[in-house]
Amino acid sequence: MSSEKRYYVTTPIYYVNGRPHIGSGLTTLCCDFLKRYHAMRGRETWFLTGTDENATKNQEAAQEAGVEALEFVTGLAEEFRSAWRAMNYAFDDFIRTTEPRHVRAVQEVFRRLRDSGDLYRGMYEGWYCVSDETFFRDTDVKEDRLCPNDECRKPLRRVQEENYFFRLSAYGDRLLAHIEANPEFLQPDFRRNEVIAFIKQGLRDASVTRANNGWGIPVPDEPDKVIYVWFDALINYLAATGWPDDEEMYRSLWPADAHMMAKEIFVRFHATLWPAMLMALGLPLPRQVYAHGWWVSSEGKKEGKRTGGLPHPVEMAADIQQRAGAASELAVDAVRYLLLREMVFHGDSEFSRESFLRRYNTDLANDLGNLGNRTVAMVGRYLGGEVPRPAPDPEVGAFVRAAVEDYEVAVREFRFNAALEAAMRIVAHMNKVIEHRAPWALAKQGRTEELADVLYTCLEAVRVVSVLIAPAMPATSQALRANLGMADAAESPAWDEALQLGLLQPGTRVASPRPLFPRIQDVAPAQSAPSPAPSPAPAAVEKREEKPMGTPSTEPVSAGPATITFDDFAKLDLRVARVVEVEPVPNATKLLKLTVDLGTETRTILAGIAEMYQPDELKDKLIVVVANLQPRKMRGIESQGMLLAADVDGQAIILQPETQVPPGSRVR
Ligand code: MSP
Repeated sequence: MSSEKRYYVTTPIYYVNGRPHIGSGLTTLCCDFLKRYHAMRGRETWFLTGTDENATKNQEAAQEAGVEALEFVTGLAEEFRSAWRAMNYAFDDFIRTTEPRHVRAVQEVFRRLRDSGDLYRGMYEGWYCVSDETFFRDTDVKEDRLCPNDECRKPLRRVQEENYFFRLSAYGDRLLAHIEANPEFLQPDFRRNEVIAFIKQGLRDASVTRANNGWGIPVPDEPDKVIYVWFDALINYLAATGWPDDEEMYRSLWPADAHMMAKEIFVRFHATLWPAMLMALGLPLPRQVYAHGWWVSSEGKKEGKRTGGLPHPVEMAADIQQRAGAASELAVDAVRYLLLREMVFHGDSEFSRESFLRRYNTDLANDLGNLGNRTVAMVGRYLGGEVPRPAPDPEVGAFVRAAVEDYEVAVREFRFNAALEAAMRIVAHMNKVIEHRAPWALAKQGRTEELADVLYTCLEAVRVVSVLIAPAMPATSQALRANLGMADAAESPAWDEALQLGLLQPGTRVASPRPLFPRIQDVAPAQSAPSPAPSPAPAAVEKREEKPMGTPSTEPVSAGPATITFDDFAKLDLRVARVVEVEPVPNATKLLKLTVDLGTETRTILAGIAEMYQPDELKDKLIVVVANLQPRKMRGIESQGMLLAADVDGQAIILQPETQVPPGSRVR
């Protein structure tokens, strides 16, 4: 390990009395985002996550399951580790509090603070909440003897034992002074104010041991006591730096740059107890401590963070993979994007599968996937697949710069949703630029210089977007860059690349467009439980919604329907037709109304191709239609057949006979 101070980011260590879900998945994702973002900015980074295993509630969960405690926690720790790997979280270390390195650090902290007088013995009489792993005094508790935490309300246990206390009361003023002198320390601001109010109420010394019931880290030289799980757990951040034995590693990591978590463990534990413990040890405090709100499911709302009903993130990815037929790593990216984009970071967000899937369709299938693909497709069609000479549009340049600045501010404030919104703003803007500048019309009119300029700007904007989305969607970023023909597509991009337009080299060959995010046809809740992990091959997509005729299917080739007999196929009357007239359909952005000559008759056909074709360019073209499809009315117009088109990530590319054939010819 180099001795340069790394950007060191941590998740809370998760209790292993339950499975991972999108709540714990979110905090871990935020850390992964920060790690990747700072690495792209040239920092050496270190990302720590892990599991909190010495809690009484873990021991009790093991007892309930009838399994030996260590075996039980080991199984769940592995489940967390593999879930985070499957979500492509690039953690550098995974600490388990049953590991010797952690036990060693915790016992050393205990020894030092006992020696310095910061820990002293006393009688503790009061209440303990196993679910929250928190002590409560008589004065905190009402007659109902339920946990005073509104989100918990579980029955409390009476505790009377000789314990060690930590002299927390001695650190109130120093903590307040530190908070005041370092406004960045506790984030967001309104939560910092909660901490200040909490400290100003007066801090009481905290009980930091419990009677040894066979689970937990023993107090050095006093095996009848174990160290209170929160006192033990917080030390993981220090233990993972190699403290107290590995000076070099410690120096390269400590102090942590960001401790990330949700609000319920912020005020008492991470913003008060932990900094006071570090002050008592004479060690520097973390640079920033940030708490986001919760994902709550509508069913689990009353249960607070123990949110029954929140899905496992890997299962969500499998669901998306199945519904959309997306590649597994891109389905994982989609979940990563949706978790960050749908979260209101400084508050709580209610989880809804349906709104996730809807946003998948709008942001990823329609906007991002479409921009990436149509840009590369047009460079293929109009410029022979080569990046033209650099001529980025200054208006787009200014728009992109403003969005990048907003993105950077948002990340500094841990508003990951706003950062991604800034990235997607560029995408939406470029889709508008394309509609407005209509490269297909420029091509038709032979305005080749203008066409090259527009497409160069589009390519560059896609490149910048590939940089901005990389911390959230690393696989998508790579795929976009590979489509742009970038030689270093497999590597994570450098942040500076987002700061200027004009980097793509003329003559670079773009790839053939590769569909990234096929649309999900059915956003209704899943009918059956999804498989636990995404499999590498796209699974069949079930389609329940009918689409307008001529709307391209987004089904991947491998996800097609079951085989049919030749007789079934023979029922289709496929014919070549000549386009006679084309008109837009009022109030339908995607539809065109085609009048086609079928040799013996003229028909009206509606086709969802307005985004790819201008009415003019279709006139006189030969196309292929399904001639015996039952007529169907859309927007008050009867469509008497369906045009056939290839689907390239939601864009329709019409099929045409290779040479001139008479209209009405049968297609077999
Ligand atoms: N073991 C302690 C933390 C010790 S850190 C030294 C603990 N564990 S926990 O398993 O309950 O995890 C709590 C953390 O998981 C939250 O602070 C948050 O980071 C994440 N989340 C758990 N449920 C969540 C939601 N429903 N929504 C958002 N984050 C959630 O507390």
